[in-house]
Amino acid sequence: MATLILNASEILTLAGPDGPRAGKDRGGLGLLRDGAVLIEKGRIVAAGPKAVVLTDPLAKGANMLSAEGRVLMPGFVDAHTHPVFVAPRLEDFESRLAGKSYAEIAERGGGILSTVNGVRGAKEADLAAGLRMRALDFVSSGTTTIEAKSGYGLDLDNELKLLRVMRTVSSRGPLEIVPTFLGAHAVPPEYKGRKDEFVERICETMIPRVASEKLAVFVDLFCEKGYFDLADLQRIAIAGAKAGLKLKVHAEQLSRMGSLDAALKLGAVTADHLDCVTEDDLPALAISKTVACLVPGSNYFLGKPYPPARRLLDSGAAVALATDFNPGTCPCFDMRMIVSIACTQMKMSPAEALVSATINGAHALGLGATHGSLEAGKVADIACFDASDHRELAYWFGAPRTRWVMKRGEIVWKAP
Ligand code: NIG
Ligand code: FE
Repeated sequence: MATLILNASEILTLAGPDGPRAGKDRGGLGLLRDGAVLIEKGRIVAAGPKAVVLTDPLAKGANMLSAEGRVLMPGFVDAHTHPVFVAPRLEDFESRLAGKSYAEIAERGGGILSTVNGVRGAKEADLAAGLRMRALDFVSSGTTTIEAKSGYGLDLDNELKLLRVMRTVSSRGPLEIVPTFLGAHAVPPEYKGRKDEFVERICETMIPRVASEKLAVFVDLFCEKGYFDLADLQRIAIAGAKAGLKLKVHAEQLSRMGSLDAALKLGAVTADHLDCVTEDDLPALAISKTVACLVPGSNYFLGKPYPPARRLLDSGAAVALATDFNPGTCPCFDMRMIVSIACTQMKMSPAEALVSATINGAHALGLGATHGSLEAGKVADIACFDASDHRELAYWFGAPRTRWVMKRGEIVWKAP
């Protein structure tokens, strides 16, 4: 039976042109004040003015669901996370508060490699149980789809283990998980001083195996001083493309290496972080198809300057916002918090931030045709918030406002 949602104070349909929203469309919410959404079999049949939606034959006899004067919008699409790990990194956190840098902490045995130790010692079932709990955290804050990166295994078996955990948790729902193979996240101890051999192992063995088991959609790498360089980016992108994996790049995060320019030339779907981009980088990004995926929660948590979101938007780049949820640089799963940080710290407007956190997040995952907006034919992934004006989603920070969340037409979470 069909479901008809009525009585929303605002419906943010995010309806608009195909493709990532940029330029004049960067803040287009497709806002309806007297709107309705009609759903059948997990898909949106119609979303528009109530008077129009009610003329659809399916509206007659549909189940009514009242939004009770609240804001309805597509579920958040969080296009950058590292959610499969065992423990928080509280010692790293405390050391950083005492003045140590991310690099110093990594050199002293903290950082990514300490999370790798935890993952290597963990059973697949326990990692899956942990991810299932975190999936509910994401959903309860209004997120219906995430991208998830491996990268805490760093050998074939442990990377496969992480990717299988994502597949298991995604298949049981309610959170949809798009997997990314991030073998080149750090050089593991057994390859210390032999980075090139590790990259060869990634390209020759790991990427083909991950792809043959259909365990990932994307390949990614941490292109950064002390981690992986531009030559590695080239090799990994080529090996990924050969195996059918699309490219994402952790680019210009802690230093500027030219990784954005290289990512654009390699046709990356997203270039992520971009804290250190300069004016010279902007024109090529603006005319490219690559989405700039900004993760300001990590800047907040590390106490670092923010990426120049305003300059990126004003130059015509398509911007997505994501959490970067991970135990080292952003233990925040709440996209509303990220939206709020984007507004207050990077001076994005609430409308721009919501576009970036929904439809542009979907495009950052290659899912722009099916996710990220409330338009006929798309999946019925919908979040309802305790607010009567969309600007409240950025305004009330630090406390939950989610009322209910729908995934593929089913209510999967309700506020207690
Ligand atoms: O996106 N930059 C590399 N990866 C993560 C950090 C992961 C970690 O510290 O565990 C990031 O910030
Ligand atoms: Fe990351």
